[in-house]
Amino acid sequence: MPPQLGKGCRTPRRGRLAIPLQGLIGMSVTLISGSANPALAESVAARLGVKAAGRVLERFPDGELHVQVQEDLRGHDVYLLQPTGPPVDAHLLELLLLADACRRAGAARLTAVVPYFGYARQDRRARGGEPVGGRVAADLIAASGLHRVVAVDLHTAALEGFFAVPLEHLSAVPLLVEAVRPALPERAVIVAPDLGAVKLAERYARALDRPVATVHKVRLSGEEVRARGLVGEVRGRAPLVVDDMISTGGTITAAITTLLAAGCVPEVTVVASHALLVGPAVERLGAQPIRRLIVTDSVAIPRDLPLRLEVAGLGPLLAEAIDALHHERPLGRLLAEG
Ligand code: R5P
Repeated sequence: MPPQLGKGCRTPRRGRLAIPLQGLIGMSVTLISGSANPALAESVAARLGVKAAGRVLERFPDGELHVQVQEDLRGHDVYLLQPTGPPVDAHLLELLLLADACRRAGAARLTAVVPYFGYARQDRRARGGEPVGGRVAADLIAASGLHRVVAVDLHTAALEGFFAVPLEHLSAVPLLVEAVRPALPERAVIVAPDLGAVKLAERYARALDRPVATVHKVRLSGEEVRARGLVGEVRGRAPLVVDDMISTGGTITAAITTLLAAGCVPEVTVVASHALLVGPAVERLGAQPIRRLIVTDSVAIPRDLPLRLEVAGLGPLLAEAIDALHHERPLGRLLAEG
């Protein structure tokens, strides 16, 4: 039996969303998780009052991926939860195969919930001879039969234009603002660690009523960056460095080094929506005077990470978005600012 929403609990339990057995559009809701972040899927499912649908994911001996959805999806409103974080290609392909399986199994409406969208940084050609990887990933998603995509804090809002299917761009920033607010020093300064993060820093600054500074970053390679300068008054202030993602930790490390050299107090807070934490990230961040490092669980975070992380869970945000989409209600305050 498909895990129909509300089945056996017509009066929703506290903390669950009020989704009836049949939504307003007459379809049952089914949540399916890929392998990228089952813990987040469980959190979403618990909020919705459902169980994630059964599926098999395995590798054939030659390395091909094989997936099978083990539920009856005919006529269902299906939400496929899969962030395309590392290993990016494997998670993307799994999403595409699961989408095709759901489509062929008769899903009436199929939405990919992609809390972290890999390839988003390849949103333009920095040099001749390069592809626009973000566009390729978006095309693959649209071609797999998905009707709609839900993403969280995309690297750039302009990515919406890459998708041939509707994109709902949610934001974890309000959640992260509330996580950081209680212990934020009075003399804090919000820091954009590169020019691409300026709009984001201004958003935090407005919400937290603090000034903004910007580091001028130059990327030397995938792992190496260099800070070339700093704009803004930072001396004697405690920095709150904000970014959309932490990958190798090079950007955050370069920003902190620059800020300390410019006279910031060594009481650093770092906030990012996506914690990829690949390569030397853990070692780099561990060596910095970071008092709070706050991220979301958009990608799975290993339990035994030797780093003190505070995780603001996305489960409630995603469950609320699914509930609203299923009932054809506007997403309003859940959406990212343009
Ligand atoms: C770049 O534009 C992004 O917003 C991040 O600043 C960057 O991807 C972080 O990567 P890393 O942690 O490897 O420096």
